[in-house]
Amino acid sequence: MDTKENEVMTETEDFLPLKGFDHLEFYVGNAKQAAYYYMSAFGFQPLAYKGLETGSKEQTSYVVRQGEATFVFTTPLVPDSDIGKHINLHGDGVKVIAIEVDDAESAHKETTQRGGKSYLEPTIIEDDSGSAKLSGIHIYGDTVHIFVEKNEYNGPFLPGFQKWEPAYQPAETGIIIVDHIVGNVDWGQMNTWVDFYAKVMGFTNLISFDDKDISTEYSALMSKVMQNGNERIKFPINEPAEGKKKSQIEEYINFYKGPGVQHIAMATKDIIKTVTELTKRGVDFLYVPDDYYDSILDRVGEIDEEVKTLRKLGILVDRDDEGYLLQIFTKPVEDRPTVFYEIIQRKGARSFGKGNFKALFEAIEREQDKRGTL
Ligand code: FE2
Repeated sequence: MDTKENEVMTETEDFLPLKGFDHLEFYVGNAKQAAYYYMSAFGFQPLAYKGLETGSKEQTSYVVRQGEATFVFTTPLVPDSDIGKHINLHGDGVKVIAIEVDDAESAHKETTQRGGKSYLEPTIIEDDSGSAKLSGIHIYGDTVHIFVEKNEYNGPFLPGFQKWEPAYQPAETGIIIVDHIVGNVDWGQMNTWVDFYAKVMGFTNLISFDDKDISTEYSALMSKVMQNGNERIKFPINEPAEGKKKSQIEEYINFYKGPGVQHIAMATKDIIKTVTELTKRGVDFLYVPDDYYDSILDRVGEIDEEVKTLRKLGILVDRDDEGYLLQIFTKPVEDRPTVFYEIIQRKGARSFGKGNFKALFEAIEREQDKRGTL
């Protein structure tokens, strides 16, 4: 095992103070129906809307929120738009990982000076509830970061959006925050993006996994976790590695037509309650073989939860030096096998479930095999 923890990068000064994830924006074929799915299945609450009724003639966006996790679903109203082209190429997927800052102008200047490619020059947007400043840079594939400065804004989401209050408001499921967002990049590109986050954004490498850590009989991948100074933003970056059969990362890249967001981990304070509720509402999770649980306590030691409950729900457990974590993964939530979700509960552990990689990747391979893509 060649796992390097807390590798120290040369630049430690925080030239890019980040307050946390602001929102994720998905480009989708039908924003109204996507919003409904995230509300009914995951328990997100309706927050804001823009579309024809608010004077937005070319695109419609629905904003939903649960805890601090905010998702925007955007669809084009006209043919031949950039949004439409994105959907045609990638299918439904994450376009924007938006990060809240106190100074969007400085975030743009500091990152572009260090080699980041500008996506959006600092721009002020306003409406009756105040103003916000946005700027942005390109990251892997067609994905971008938007820096959101909104200290002067009092509306429900951002200028241009109106409060959205539909009659249908299903109960929350206990999701409190986005824990980490994983990017899949192409063969040999992991270190390019690790260097990007180190140089352009001042992140440090928290953990590295090589193909000896993350491989099964058939497929392999490599991964490095980059995080910012206050640890609120964590981006694991994966690339495929050679195996006997096709890596899940390669399958993703083939279907997404390039690099992009692979999974979004959402944290809960009670994973048993959250997963019970999600399962009831039709969220499909990866199946873990029963024998995973036979030796689980030998591997992770004492835990607060009953093994029979974890077994029934398919929740995985792992331990590191600081504590343990519970996690579970959904199947892809789109028709293409691309974006999926992780539900995670951290009980001290700050790692990512290395002890579960083998069981997890074998579960993914069983799904790949059904799809004919292994
Ligand atoms: Fe994860």
